[in-house]
Amino acid sequence: MPKNDTFLRALKREPTPHVPVWLMRQAGRYLPEYNVTRGKAGSFMALAGNPALATEVTLQPLERFPLDAAILFSDILTVPDAMGLGLSFAEGEGPRFARTTGDEASIATLEVPDMAKLRYVFDAVAQIKQALQDRVPLIGFSGSPFTLACYMIQGGGSADFAAVRRMAYARPDLLQRLVDLNARAVALYLNEQIAAGADAVMIFDTWGGLLSTDAYRRFSLATMKSVLNALRPDPQGKRVPSIVFTKGGGGWLAEIAAIGASGVGLDWTVDIRAARRDVGHAVALQGNLDPLILLTDPATIEREAGRIIADAGSAPGHIFNLGHGIVPGTPPENVGALVDAVHRISRETRAAP
Ligand code: CP3
Repeated sequence: MPKNDTFLRALKREPTPHVPVWLMRQAGRYLPEYNVTRGKAGSFMALAGNPALATEVTLQPLERFPLDAAILFSDILTVPDAMGLGLSFAEGEGPRFARTTGDEASIATLEVPDMAKLRYVFDAVAQIKQALQDRVPLIGFSGSPFTLACYMIQGGGSADFAAVRRMAYARPDLLQRLVDLNARAVALYLNEQIAAGADAVMIFDTWGGLLSTDAYRRFSLATMKSVLNALRPDPQGKRVPSIVFTKGGGGWLAEIAAIGASGVGLDWTVDIRAARRDVGHAVALQGNLDPLILLTDPATIEREAGRIIADAGSAPGHIFNLGHGIVPGTPPENVGALVDAVHRISRETRAAP
């Protein structure tokens, strides 16, 4: 058990002396030391593909801030890359796949990748665990089957993933085949991270919120549920806690809370009080500060953090986080101000053993 187990206890809805906090994209371009390491590696994929360097950047934010969890440094798109789609990140742009999929013939040739191709990720998990020396828990992660399909079909980022949404209605049978394949790949991928030492796993469903409710249930929610059902216990035989995060999923929280995860992520559009009412006390909630608040000043950050902590209520089961990843250009000292404010305010307002 990590020395600081507040994150794992909050996920189990047990009382903690302070509200634990970690931040999506806590290792990234807002940190000058990250940019140095990335420069050494030469490219994002060279960085993520080198376990020693991935370990270095995973630990960087923890050296600066008293964060309550570490998250594996990698990317969700490693899985479609291992399927042979050819991932690259051009400087200043988003991800690009050399090949896309989406028609009958190309989907028919796709296979669940051999996990040996993703060995560098599992090696990174093991090395990070060792380097952490049980200071804080390590979160492993994957994209959701649907969010991976978005990039595989579109070939890169998009504001609306129009081709994917069109396919959801025009060729639901094909999209179903693709997300089902992804679900099998994601389950294997997360189980290998668990076997390598991940203390918790999170599924990032960044684009599920673009779908109609029916399509969301079918292509995103149901496939995340099948991934959760396939998760295996850790090497000690214990159940590994999980978090699901559908950005834009605020209207579906009760349904999301019912698929078997320990925690549900909230983006910044959600009222965390209403979220607690919607889901009851069956799951932990994680979120939900607008990442752009980190571009203001410590006083504003403290005020907004205090409001979320108060609105989350005094019952155990809140993990403080942003509603989406830290944006490049965030002053690191503002991140420090946030982490300190969450710890201080929550200690003052909800002292517990
Ligand atoms: O600290 C952490 O949160 C762990 C590392 C992590 C990264 N990506 C590193 C990264 C995690 C958990 C992710 C998840 C991820 N990747 C998601 C889901 C969460 C989300 O942000 O919605 C998605 C959709 C991706 C796909 C992806 N990777 C995009 C769209 C981009 C480019 C956007 C950008 O910020 O430039 C990436 C690249 C990426 N992944 C970077 C980092 C630190 C920046 C790459 C760089 O150094 O150039």
